Amino acid sequence: MARKLIAANWKMNGSLGNNAALAQRIVDGAASLACEVLLCVPYPYLGQVGGLLAGSRVALGAQDLSEHDAGAYTGEVSAAMLKDVGCSHVVVGHSERRKYHGESDALVLAKVHRAQAAALVPIVCVGESREQREAGDTERVVLGQIEAVFGGLDDAAARRLVLAYEPVWAIGTGLAATPEMAQAVHASIRGALVARLGDEAGAVAILYGGSVNADNAAALFAMPDIDGALVGGASLDAEAFISICVAGSGR
Ligand code: PGA
Repeated sequence: MARKLIAANWKMNGSLGNNAALAQRIVDGAASLACEVLLCVPYPYLGQVGGLLAGSRVALGAQDLSEHDAGAYTGEVSAAMLKDVGCSHVVVGHSERRKYHGESDALVLAKVHRAQAAALVPIVCVGESREQREAGDTERVVLGQIEAVFGGLDDAAARRLVLAYEPVWAIGTGLAATPEMAQAVHASIRGALVARLGDEAGAVAILYGGSVNADNAAALFAMPDIDGALVGGASLDAEAFISICVAGSGR
């Protein structure tokens, strides 16, 4: 079985002082673990945190990227820049980007293309709102968001990404999906991957995100189609994040 991927999403949090302490504790805590560990940090700190992670088994990622290649796009950050400063992964289509910045499925696909062209692995986020879940629309919404991306990729590209199922109602609320609720959606996503990629469907990891913490991680990771986690709030606490990584290492 592939190793689980535990990805931290620091969102718009951090400072030089706090980052140094947090990243060092995570590097030390992750040194002997059997999962993949990734820190997705704010743009200004990629260089700092990248330096701290050098030579460790913790990878560096960003939280977004531009859909453009280069040029007169004030304030934007390109895939090539992220690669240049040592990122291996980039989050794309997080619900906070979709909600606060109006990111559409088409924009998400454009960003996936840019990321892959620069040899970055996109972590594509999908998930339903509370209203959509209550209306019984979860599967349609989630599979629709995935199809919007997969429809624009050839099979080789479709294998080179990570999916993150993040129910919007679970993000930052302390109300994680139960393992069974998450597994049901992950199983539907796996089904869509099998339909698209056949035997290669296992190449695409499906992370769960939304109020993952030290107490619920092990039960989520025990589910057959949960391949890791995208962790927001709990990733700012070294002890909690390492506990999640330990759970992801099967210990
Ligand atoms: P949370 O955030 O763990 O704080 O719920 C997860 C995410 O938004 O990726």
